[in-house]
Amino acid sequence: MDFTDKVAVVTGAGSGIGRAIATALAGNGAVVAAADRDLAAAEQTAAAHDRIIAVFLDLTSDSSIRSARDEVVRRLGATAILVNAAGWDQPGPFLETDEQFWRDVVDINLVGHVRVSHAFLQPMIEAGRGGKVVNIASDAGRVGSAGETVYAGAKGGLIAFTKSLARELARYQINVNCVCPGPTDTPLFRSLPDSMRQALTRAIPFRRVAQPAEIADAVLFFASDLASYVTGQVLSVSGGLTMAG
Ligand SMILES: NC(=O)c1ccc[n+]([C@@H]2O[C@H](COP(=O)([O-])OP(=O)(O)OC[C@H]3O[C@@H](n4cnc5c(N)ncnc54)[C@H](O)[C@@H]3O)[C@@H](O)[C@H]2O)c1
Repeated sequence: MDFTDKVAVVTGAGSGIGRAIATALAGNGAVVAAADRDLAAAEQTAAAHDRIIAVFLDLTSDSSIRSARDEVVRRLGATAILVNAAGWDQPGPFLETDEQFWRDVVDINLVGHVRVSHAFLQPMIEAGRGGKVVNIASDAGRVGSAGETVYAGAKGGLIAFTKSLARELARYQINVNCVCPGPTDTPLFRSLPDSMRQALTRAIPFRRVAQPAEIADAVLFFASDLASYVTGQVLSVSGGLTMAG
C-alpha cells in the first residue's frame, strides 16, 4: 500500500496498537504524527522512524487536542488520515466500580475520540481532498465483555459514532470505518489478570492473541485507496473469537 507523503495522525501511538499503526503507516510512505499523553513514549515511537514526529495530546483536554491539531497542521499540513487508537481500561466487576471511574472510561474511550475528530476533521474538510478516519473500538463493544462493562459501553458508542459520522462525511469523500481488535499482545492486555488472559486465549480459535502489527494491517486497508468505496463498516480482527454478524 502506498501512502507516500500523506499526513497521518495516530492517537495512542506511544504504545501497543497505536505504535504499530504509526510505524506501519510511516513504513509505507506516510508522514505521521504520533500523538499521545505520554510524550516520552510517543518520542520513542518517533525515534524508530524518520517519518514520524511526536506530539503531546491528551484526549481528556480539548485545549491540548486543539494545540496538537495546530502543531500538526503547522509542521506537516492538513491531516489526510486520522486513526483514533488511544484507549484505557481497568477491568473488574461492574458493581465494584464508581462514578469517577465510569466518567474516566467514557471520557477517554468515547468522548475523547469525538473531541479529536471534531478538531482534526475541520482542516481535513477544508483541504478538500477527502480523507480516511479509522476508529479503534473493541469486540467488547460488539458482543460485550464481562469485567469491561463500562468500557464495552463506550466502545459500542464509538461504533455507532463511526457509522453516523460516515453518513455525514460521505459528501466530503471522507471514509470513516472501525476496527475492533480482539485480545492483542500489548501493555493493556498484559495488565489483565492471568486467569482472564488465559481464558481469552483458550477461547480464540487460533489459540493465540493478536500481534499489534496484525491490527495495523486492517487499519492500513481502511486508510488506503483500496477502501475508497468502504465506509461506516466495522471489522473484527480477533482470530475468530467473535463471529457474530
Ligand atoms: N490490547 C487489546 O487486547 C485490545 C483489545 C481491543 C481493543 N483494544 C483497543 O486498542 C487501542 C490500543 O490499545 P493498546 O492495547 O495498544 O493499549 P496500550 O495501553 O498499549 O496503549 C494505549 C495508548 O493510549 C494512550 N492514552 C491513554 N489515555 C490517553 C489519553 N487520555 N490521551 C492520549 N493518549 C492516551 C496511552 O498513553 C498509550 O500510549 C485502545 O483503544 C484499546 O481500547 C485493545
